[in-house]
Amino acid sequence: MSQTKSLNVDYNYSVVRLFALTTILWGIIGMAVGVLIAAQLYWPALNFDTPWLTYSRLRPLHTNAVIFAFGTSALFATSYYIVQRTCQVRLFAEKLAMFTFWGWQAVIVAAVITLPMGLSSSKEYAELEWPIDILITLVWVSYAIVFFGTLVKRKTSHIYVANWFLGGFILTVAALHIVNSMAIPVSAFKSYSIYAGAVDAMIQWWYGHNAVGFLLTAGFLGMMYYFVPKQAGRPVYSYRLSIVHFWALIALYIWAGPHHLHYTALPDWTQSLGMVMSVVLFVPSWGGMINGIMTLSGAWHKLKTDPILRFLIVSLSFYGMSTFEGPMMAIKSVNALSHYTDWTIGHVHSGALGWVAMISIGAIYHLIPVLYNQGRMYSIALINTHFWLHTIGVVLYIVAMWISGITQGMMWRAVNTDGTLTYSFVQSLEASMPFYLMRFIGGVFVVAGMLLMAYNVYKTVRAKDETLQPVPAAA
Ligand code: HEM
Ligand code: HEM
Repeated sequence: MSQTKSLNVDYNYSVVRLFALTTILWGIIGMAVGVLIAAQLYWPALNFDTPWLTYSRLRPLHTNAVIFAFGTSALFATSYYIVQRTCQVRLFAEKLAMFTFWGWQAVIVAAVITLPMGLSSSKEYAELEWPIDILITLVWVSYAIVFFGTLVKRKTSHIYVANWFLGGFILTVAALHIVNSMAIPVSAFKSYSIYAGAVDAMIQWWYGHNAVGFLLTAGFLGMMYYFVPKQAGRPVYSYRLSIVHFWALIALYIWAGPHHLHYTALPDWTQSLGMVMSVVLFVPSWGGMINGIMTLSGAWHKLKTDPILRFLIVSLSFYGMSTFEGPMMAIKSVNALSHYTDWTIGHVHSGALGWVAMISIGAIYHLIPVLYNQGRMYSIALINTHFWLHTIGVVLYIVAMWISGITQGMMWRAVNTDGTLTYSFVQSLEASMPFYLMRFIGGVFVVAGMLLMAYNVYKTVRAKDETLQPVPAAA
């Protein structure tokens, strides 16, 4: 097993390396499927009249691949790295850590096979059938043992704030997954949820929104609190603010789920509670964003020369943007316009492609040279090109979806003086078509950037030990 020494501690980087490399692999696959489904919405012939290639089956494949294969692999890689470095000890239960790697890959492969086959529990972001759910539980409990075991045997007196976020993410995702996946199996590949009706919907969106809050947000904030200060070479702007950020986020997120169920059979007071909690959530979200960006105080010039830092800081700007937009969309009267439209899809991807993907890409670029004993990545120019391809791609994507979404919302609610609808649904679809093409082009930019990343990482990994020297710091 490989070991790397720092501060006289032998860190276990084997499992970190595996997760870091699979992050890139699954990122390319998951986003390429995203580009394919984006193309299907513009050229329906690309469904090929083949059941396992249809949009309906590939869409959950895309969401599972990007969230659970790409995003979660990035979280495994960085959390195992951060917890060792900030606690100054090797991982606890290293064999169990290796089990989490292979177990998680097995979950992903099972998803890649069963989702195109049409095997689905039909719960969004929790589509996988019960045998896979059990495997997820085993992997996740092992993950918690490794992570918290390492915290327990730490040599430092306090627990660095990144670990608070990562620990919160691991515990909450365990609870969300177990409660939402409770089902009665009727065969090896089919089960029915133990919840029914409005309760089922409420549990599902308590899960769904907190998957956003704890997996796509708290986990990546843990990443942010470690890699932004490291890459900037500055301490975090305000440690006190980071602790307030943590507790405020944890206390508020858990209540916001009903904003996914406005104007449904859910009791009205729960919808209003979800709306209020979502609006308040804006405050800690922006506190965290400001804390991250202000960490650059006194080091702003580094943004000019360091594209990795640019990935990290621009990701925070997208975090700020989506956490401003989300609370707005949670207001019932705004949601009456945005719900069911492409506006939601634009919001999702400003969070997912802007925040989640960019912070992960920045963190992996920071990690690879350390894990493979190099002073830097093979090509800084390629990272720079990747940064621009990704940024242009995300902007094309979200601008297209905002225009398309608001157009749809306005066309659906337009009525003539006699009370009949002004536009048919097909007319609104026709109006969206140019924007579907624009989104597809944005997606191609993003995937092209990921392919450059894979090449750059390959060249870094294959270089002999310490051949790549750090670039001298710009004056
Ligand atoms: C090349 C990049 C990507 C492209 C082209 C892409 C494309 C798409 C498309 C076409 C949809 C379906 C939209 C619809 O139903 O109208 C979708 C949904 C979704 N994508 Fe992506 N995507 C990309 C990257 C990502 C990433 C990196 C993430 C997460 C980390 C992500 C998360 C999601 C989610 C959560 C949904 C479901 C949204 C909802 O149900 O409201 N996507 N994506
Ligand atoms: C303060 C923070 C946030 C709030 C209050 C918020 C609020 C909302 C609202 C109101 C919706 C639309 C629900 C609907 O009409 O169906 C939504 C959808 C969504 N948001 Fe956010 N959002 C926030 C941040 C984020 C971030 C940072 C991400 C991603 C990393 C994200 C990912 C999503 C996803 C995936 C959906 C679509 C769920 C679905 O229908 O499948 N959100 N959010």
